[in-house]
Formats: sequence, structure tokens, C-alpha cells
Amino acid sequence: MTRTWRLDTPRQTLVLGARSDRLAEVIYWGANLPENEDLAVLVSACELDVTGGMIDRNPDLSICPETSRTFPGQPGMEIAEADGTPLAPAFRLVSAEEAPGRLTLSYADSALGLRYSAHFETTADSDMIAARAAVEADRPLRLNWLAAPVLPAPQNATEMIDFAGRWIGEFRPVRTPWDAGIRMRDNRTGRTDHAHFPGLILPCVGATNTMGAAYALHYGWSGGHRMLAEELPDGRRQVQFGHAAHTEHAPATRFETSTLYATFSDTGLNGCATSFQRHLRDHLVTWPHPERPRPVHYNCWEAIYFDHDIPTLRQIADRAAALGAERFVLDDGWFGLRDDDTSSLGDWAIDPRKYPEGLGPLIDHIHGLGMTFGIWFEPEMVNEDSDLFRAHPDWRLGPAEQIPGRQQMVLDMAREDVRDHLFGKISAVLGGYAIDYVKWDHNRVLPAPDAAQARGFYALLDRLRAAHPDVEFESCSSGGGRIDFGVMRRAQRVWLSDSNDALERMRIQHEAALFLPLAVTGSHVGPRHCHTSGRTIDIRCRAWVAAQRHMGFEMDPRELSDEEASVLKQVTGWWKANRDWMRGADILRLDHADPTLIAEEQLARDGSRFVVFAGRAASPAQIAPRPLQLTGLEPAARYRVDLANRADVVGLSRGTPALKAGPLEMSGAALMQAGLALPWSFPETIWVIEGQRL
Ligand code: DGJ
Repeated sequence: MTRTWRLDTPRQTLVLGARSDRLAEVIYWGANLPENEDLAVLVSACELDVTGGMIDRNPDLSICPETSRTFPGQPGMEIAEADGTPLAPAFRLVSAEEAPGRLTLSYADSALGLRYSAHFETTADSDMIAARAAVEADRPLRLNWLAAPVLPAPQNATEMIDFAGRWIGEFRPVRTPWDAGIRMRDNRTGRTDHAHFPGLILPCVGATNTMGAAYALHYGWSGGHRMLAEELPDGRRQVQFGHAAHTEHAPATRFETSTLYATFSDTGLNGCATSFQRHLRDHLVTWPHPERPRPVHYNCWEAIYFDHDIPTLRQIADRAAALGAERFVLDDGWFGLRDDDTSSLGDWAIDPRKYPEGLGPLIDHIHGLGMTFGIWFEPEMVNEDSDLFRAHPDWRLGPAEQIPGRQQMVLDMAREDVRDHLFGKISAVLGGYAIDYVKWDHNRVLPAPDAAQARGFYALLDRLRAAHPDVEFESCSSGGGRIDFGVMRRAQRVWLSDSNDALERMRIQHEAALFLPLAVTGSHVGPRHCHTSGRTIDIRCRAWVAAQRHMGFEMDPRELSDEEASVLKQVTGWWKANRDWMRGADILRLDHADPTLIAEEQLARDGSRFVVFAGRAASPAQIAPRPLQLTGLEPAARYRVDLANRADVVGLSRGTPALKAGPLEMSGAALMQAGLALPWSFPETIWVIEGQRL
């Protein structure tokens, strides 16, 4: 008997099928099928032939491929008795629960006392499929690997894109050709990590940012993931995502994966990107005050580092407020005896040398300027030079011989006493002062990957959020070391990178937009001489790059010349005037033949307006700027487009492209097909083009 199930979102269909009561296979995933498609016929139409040199039937590429079924590739589960004896389950269907947009398939191997379930859920307005799996046993077992429900990869594709990166260089797409065998990512750092963002894009042949078919997946987990994309000898392709292998250290009766988010697009990579952006912003992030505009941040880290001095901070706050900041974030250095990064992590009491009367006077000053107050913590870490470590050396995670990172050790977050202690200390600060924001940092990899550590982190953060529901949290880990949809179910912002170099940032945030919306992506105007690249970048470029995301400042504002301050104030004003519609907009990456141009269009959800940021990251090969084609507009509608920063046109722009002179009106078709000629510009500059549907 053939069983089938289907899930639909407005632009995709996922069909599961099984010819027996064994584990189902995803037999189709792609553009919508007609409602009346005969799925049983589809199952048989998709069945592969068998020839010489093969076993007698093709093993199912099921949602959890089984070794017991002679599967020739990587299995979806590696499980063993507590003593290490491997098990090879052969699951049989127990039940299928279907509800609109949901499907749960439950299986058992009664001989082995095992149950397996796969759960799928769709969200229509983000075109997202969320899937997760769990395995349960009647006795404690060891789990080495469990994949979230396994999906097939497209045949009409020659390459895949996953992500590498590093500190101050996050989100580097890596393109790998499909070929026989495996592309595997197994993140051993114990955190999401700069080098391992858990995403995969599967562009079909010919797909670009703006056109063609593409699939994309993201695994929402902060403990490090494993991904494998495998082409079998018979040509089938499978994609598996789960926690990094061998990170469940204790035998247990139940294990579960985190959520795998998957989407198909027929509008290029942008269709996938907007699914992730919308899903994260509108369905996963929980906003303490959704109606509150995203406030302009001021963060003092690159202004003062550990050198906290109240009169200086007041002066800085005065300037930041005058520039337009609305939230002041006191970074590292306010606690213990923390004068550098060698001591005091773990001692979460206000340093009386720096703040003799506590934080009250500084916070009062900041409130008096109309700003709210945020504060930095790094809860999961401890310095050996700290009262906490001296009192509880046994709270350290991992062996004494481990190599420290930034002179610090990791606390064992799986321990309830550790979590209770941290909750008490952090809660006392959050409860003792009017604080509306926590920047939660995590500045080293774990001594060894451990899923229990990530669960402990989630438990502490969940408890703090429940106790302090008005406080927003930012996920930071030396910049972008902990960015994933698991942490973002608990946080409202990411510190995308420690690079405040506007050129680096422009690239990083452009790539990150494949998954992240403006609303959660922090971007700060850094110092004139960038601390992480040594470059000197003009204030216009720095300001407009920050204005593309959740804007903030992170320099000593006392260094700004009057002219710089006035530019920054003006761009900040522009951001405030536009932030509400931009918060809900889609970020669409534009295709362009010039690789030195990093261009994106932020398009309001109702299509009524847009803004294009066209950043010239370097000198182009050709002498004149190529026209820039827009995307996602209504072909027949007319739009009024104008340069928001016409004053930045330089003398070397000697021609007469219309945008230079004033606003113009064009159809969506013309803007998308012919495009707009941009004025000539220096490298390290950005054109900002606003558009309004008429
Ligand atoms: C790393 C973060 O990414 C920085 O922004 C800053 O908060 C430092 N840690 C503080 O130690």
C-alpha cells in the first residue's frame, strides 16, 4: 500500500511517500504541484530503475536513512546501547497525525524498544517549512548522530553554497561543486561559530540573486552543527543537518534535533533570503515591545574599552544623544576588577572603584538625555583570576590542561547550581537598575563540543527573559560567533561582527541578509581610523553602511569633526524617518556585472516604497558605472526614484545621468530591465536611491 502526505506553502510543495509502513521519503520538494496531483502515481513515477551491479531494490532515501535497509550513504541516525553496542533500527509506521500545515509521523522498532518521530510544520507568509526529529528508547542509549528529517537536494544543480568565516570576517559563502561523495561540515567548536554558520543554499542551474530556482536550509542550533550533502552512486542527493556528531555525552532515553528550516524559491536566492528574513523577524523573535521603533544604539566599547570613568562616559553620552542615539550600552569593564581581559569574568558585581555609588548616577544621566540603558555580560565564562573561580574551580567545563581562550575558561552550563548562581547575579543587576537591554557575549570556543552546554545556555537565557520580560537581548560572540535561529528565538539582535570597518561590514551584512532581516542585525558607525582594519573611512560611507541595518554608533563621538557630526546626525535622522517601514521590508540583493558594487534593495512589504543602497567597495574594472537593475517591482506600476545623497556627487562625475539632476519617474519594468545609470563615484562610497510607487 502506498501512503502519501503533502505540505504546501504559497510557493512550494513537499510530498512524502512510502510504499510500505517503512520510513517515508521526501519524494518531491519544489514549486507547487496542482492540488489534484495523484501522489501515489508520483511515488511510482519517481521510482528509480535497478540494473546489474546493484542490490535488488533501491534503498529508500528516507527521512532517516537506515543502515538496516542497506542504505549506501550516510545514515540518518547512529545510536548505540549505553555500553557502545551499535543498533541498526528498522522503523515501522505507528501513526501519522495531520493537521493544516502540520504533519507528525511516528515510527517504532518494537524489537529494539525504539521510537522515532519526524515533525513538519509550514508557515504560509514566510513560505517556510520547519522540521525536526526525535528518538526515544525504553532504556538509556548513546546517540552519536541524529539528522533532522532528511531532504533531497535538487538534481538540476551543479553547486552548493555553505558558509565559512572568521573573527571580523563572518559570512563567507563557499561554493562547492556537486560530485560523487560528500561535502561535510562538522563544527567542533561547541558554538555556532564565525567559521560555521549553519546554512546551505542549493541554487539550481542559472539561479542568481534575483531569478531562477533555489533551495535553502538553516539549522537553528547554537551548539555547533553537522551538515552533509551527499551524492549517492545512483545519482540521488541527500542533505542532512543535525547537532555536531558525538556531542551528546550522556546516555539518555530521549534525544531530539533542533529545528531545520527549509524553503524553496522560484525568484532566485532572494526568495529564500526573504523567507528566512520574514520567518525570523515575524515568527521566531519575541519582541518585548513590538510597537517600539528599533532604537539607535550607542555602544562605548571602541571608545573606552576597559577604561571606565564617569565624567568621560557622561561626556560621551551627551554627544551620542545629540547625534541621535536612543540607547546607551555600557560594554565590558563595569564589574569585578576588570581593567583588562585577564580577570574578573564571573564576578558580576559593580566595580566600586569605577562606580563608587553604583551605576545609578550614570544611568540617571543617560535617562536624563532621553536614552535607555543597556549593559554587557558574558555569563558563561570565568577567568581563573576571579573570586568565582577561586570559590568554584570545579565549575569549569573541560580539563585543567585545556588551552584557555582570551585568558578565560567556560563554566559548565549543564550544572543547575551554575545556572542558579548566574541567574541570581545577573538578575540582581537587571532588577536593581532600569536596564532594557543586555549584550550577551561569548568570547571563546568550548574546550570540546557538548550539546548539554547549549541547552544550559538556552535554559538560563529563558529563565532571565521570563524574569525580566521587558529586557531585550543581543547575541554576541566575539562579533558573529553565535548567530542562528535557535538563539534568535530568545534574543532580539545579533552583533554581526566585531568589524566596524564599513567596507568589511557592507560585505558581511550583505551576505548575512541571505538569512537575517534588518530588524535584528546590528551595524554601528565605527571610529574614523578603524580599530580592526587600520583603514580610514569617510563618515558618509560609515554612516550609510550602518543605516542599512539596526543602526548604532561605536566610536568616541568626541573625535568627530563638526562636519562629520553633522553628516552623522543627518543620516541618523534619515534612518529614524525610515526605520519603521524598513524594519518590515525585504532585503533583496541585486545582481550586477561589476563585482566591486555591493547593491541591495529594501522593498516595503506592500511594495509601495523602496530604498537601494549601491556600495562601491573598490575601484571597478570598467571606467563608467554600469546601470543597476532593480528587482521585485510591479512591472506596470510607475515609480518616482531619487538620490537621497545627491550632495555626494563629486567633480569627476562629468556626465549627465538623469539621477544626478533630480527625481525621475519610470515604470517598474524599465527599472528592472533597463536599470538606472549611477553617477560616477569614488571607491568606498554609497549611493542611496529612494523609490516611491505612484
Ligand atoms: C567581544 C565583543 O564582540 C565586543 O563587541 C566587545 O563586547 C568585547 N567582546 C568586550 O570584551
